[in-house]
Amino acid sequence: MSIVVTGASGKLGRHVVEQLLEKVPAGQVTAVVRSPEKAAGLAERGVRVAVADYNAPETFDGLFAAGDKVLLISGNEFDKGRVRQHSVVIDAAKAAGVALLAYTSAPGSLTAALADDHRGTERALLDSGVPYVLLRNGWYHENYTENLAPVLEHGAVVAAAGEGRVSSASRADYAAAAVAVLTGEGHENTTYELGGDEAWSFAEYAAELSRQTGREIVYNPGTPEALTGILAGAGVPEPVAAVFAGVDAAIAKGELVVDSGDLSRLAGRPTTPLAEAVAAALKD
Ligand SMILES: NC(=O)c1ccc[n+]([C@@H]2O[C@H](COP(=O)([O-])OP(=O)(O)OC[C@H]3O[C@@H](n4cnc5c(N)ncnc54)[C@H](OP(=O)(O)O)[C@@H]3O)[C@@H](O)[C@H]2O)c1
Repeated sequence: MSIVVTGASGKLGRHVVEQLLEKVPAGQVTAVVRSPEKAAGLAERGVRVAVADYNAPETFDGLFAAGDKVLLISGNEFDKGRVRQHSVVIDAAKAAGVALLAYTSAPGSLTAALADDHRGTERALLDSGVPYVLLRNGWYHENYTENLAPVLEHGAVVAAAGEGRVSSASRADYAAAAVAVLTGEGHENTTYELGGDEAWSFAEYAAELSRQTGREIVYNPGTPEALTGILAGAGVPEPVAAVFAGVDAAIAKGELVVDSGDLSRLAGRPTTPLAEAVAAALKD
């Protein structure tokens, strides 16, 4: 029996594997990666590394074993049919008879186009009959704190989120929830709505940046169309820019507020405040 993590070389996956290694012996953890060189350090620490690609179903043949607990981390190839990709993993997990398949989804309240692949994958997972957990992850703090350079350069947070609020949390927080599910008992066939303990508005985010930098940083709310144009002008492919702007429109409608408390309950501690994530990012 192994705890198997796909997308293990990604940013969330790395947090999950590190936190798993604090709880279980390395020999009980399998990291699934596309590029083994990205997991060389893990192999040296005794983690089993398996090489597989969501686009190549045969690479998942025999990868899972009966009784395994699997975390399927959603992929990031928006143009390659993520539901089909994720179904490759679900089919392989079913064939092996895994004990649990947890999937990193999106909040149930999110209706933006970005959520379509997640809803499709959830349906495939439920239809498969495999014992499931839906980890409906809210937004990451890092979506903002990893992109501070243009904000600091222009003294402005630009978004199309109106006065909407976001219950973001750090990747490490979402990883803690996943690890609790993978190492705990009694989570079968459960849906968790995961978000940070405190929702914030973009005006509050700009004020926090001002406080921590000592400079005036304002919030410039715009329309989704204007944001699509700004992102496209910065080199983001137009369809992707439109999807991001669609998320802001969803935020304006309150669709990324998650007040279930599931995340801090699973993690067993409060979630990381946005201000802490900002401070860490400004130190880098
Ligand atoms: N909640 C949020 O705010 C938020 C924000 C962004 C993304 N997401 C979703 O959450 C996922 C995890 O977030 P993250 O920050 O860890 O993203 P990330 O760093 O981009 O990681 C994505 C992972 O998926 C793997 N992957 C992509 N396509 C694959 C394929 N065809 N076969 C096998 N593996 C594949 C990548 O492998 P490589 O390491 O080889 O590239 C990587 O390990 C993302 O992929 C996305 O679906 C959520």
